[in-house]
Amino acid sequence: MNGEALYSFAEEQLVEPVRLAIVGAGYWGPNLLRVATELPQAHVEFVCDVRPDALQAVARRYPAPRLTTEFDDVIAAEDVDAVVIATPPSTHRTLCLAALEAGKHVLVEKPLATSVRDAQTLVAAAERTGVLLMPGHTFLYSPSVNVVRDLIQAGELGDLYFISMSRVNLGLHQADVSVAWDLGPHDFSILRYWLDEVPSMVSAFSRSCVTDVADVMFVSLEFPSGTIAHAELSWLAPSKLRRTTVVGSEKMVVYDDTSNEPVRIFDSGVVLANPSTFGEYQLAYRAGDVVSPRVAVTEPLMLELADFCLSITRGSKPRSSIEVGLDVVRMCDAADRSARARRPRRPEPLDARATT
Ligand SMILES: NC(=O)c1ccc[n+]([C@@H]2O[C@H](COP(=O)([O-])OP(=O)(O)OC[C@H]3O[C@@H](n4cnc5c(N)ncnc54)[C@H](O)[C@@H]3O)[C@@H](O)[C@H]2O)c1
Repeated sequence: MNGEALYSFAEEQLVEPVRLAIVGAGYWGPNLLRVATELPQAHVEFVCDVRPDALQAVARRYPAPRLTTEFDDVIAAEDVDAVVIATPPSTHRTLCLAALEAGKHVLVEKPLATSVRDAQTLVAAAERTGVLLMPGHTFLYSPSVNVVRDLIQAGELGDLYFISMSRVNLGLHQADVSVAWDLGPHDFSILRYWLDEVPSMVSAFSRSCVTDVADVMFVSLEFPSGTIAHAELSWLAPSKLRRTTVVGSEKMVVYDDTSNEPVRIFDSGVVLANPSTFGEYQLAYRAGDVVSPRVAVTEPLMLELADFCLSITRGSKPRSSIEVGLDVVRMCDAADRSARARRPRRPEPLDARATT
């Protein structure tokens, strides 16, 4: 599915828009507010933030919604069907639980929660109250990510050997979670979406360079299918990289979210020819065409919010499902545990006899 199919579903009109409250008006909340304001399927009733200055900034651009510093006002409001939560990850459990128990549908920004236990608590609360709980995994709505997924699912890349991902820049250090929980959910949700499986093993190295929170992490993942993946996550890098290389037996793909050619398909590879004598092997290298497919220009966040509203109205499951949210939390948790254990694999020192 490239961006066009996605676009038509965002355009679909509802009889009654879903009445929303946006909670958290820091860095990301205003993006959700902008998108919700433009989306025909949504109507913003409330914006909530504990910081009055954040609300003042909202009021200057969007005079219509009511503003409050009290989350209780939001969940008590009868004209609010659904709550969109864009607050720091450590607050997700408390806020989501209160909203779910008040019978509100919830879209919560990634990660769903900051522990597997908290995520399970939220899933159980949503099941009990019969409302929709959706994690905000925005990249599942990216046209580029969907182009690559289509290639993988159609078998065009062949046997998937490995995936290598870099998500680094001089980013905002989060106070409450490590870089695994902040940047990791993007790559982990993409991997799960592309491969339709969760890793059997995760190992990670990290370092807390600036504060006592890990700000760089190298995560290795092994999948039951045999595919291996590596994600380099960091808030400390001079230039922004959002680059993924997918290597298959037939073709290779570079997906670069910062490029104006975000997906490039390389008809390249190497084949091992049948040996004619024992001990002999011959490799045949292939470097064919490089194709840059057209990728629709559609804002993933708009599609994510449209999916949330349509799923509420239709009673259907959103693409960014609760199963995805839970699996991503399990992947972040495993990476963090491995990094804290400090010995994810048996580290080997350099051979001391060979010093220069
Ligand atoms: N999908 C994406 O691409 C994407 C991008 C950035 C951030 N995020 C996610 O969005 C969420 C918010 O991140 P951010 O960078 O905007 O954080 P932020 O710290 O800039 O903003 C959070 C806001 O929430 C407010 N807040 C905190 N506790 C509150 C409470 N109890 N009630 C109401 N308001 C409260 C804070 O005052 C602040 O204004 C995080 O979960 C983050 O992972 C997602």
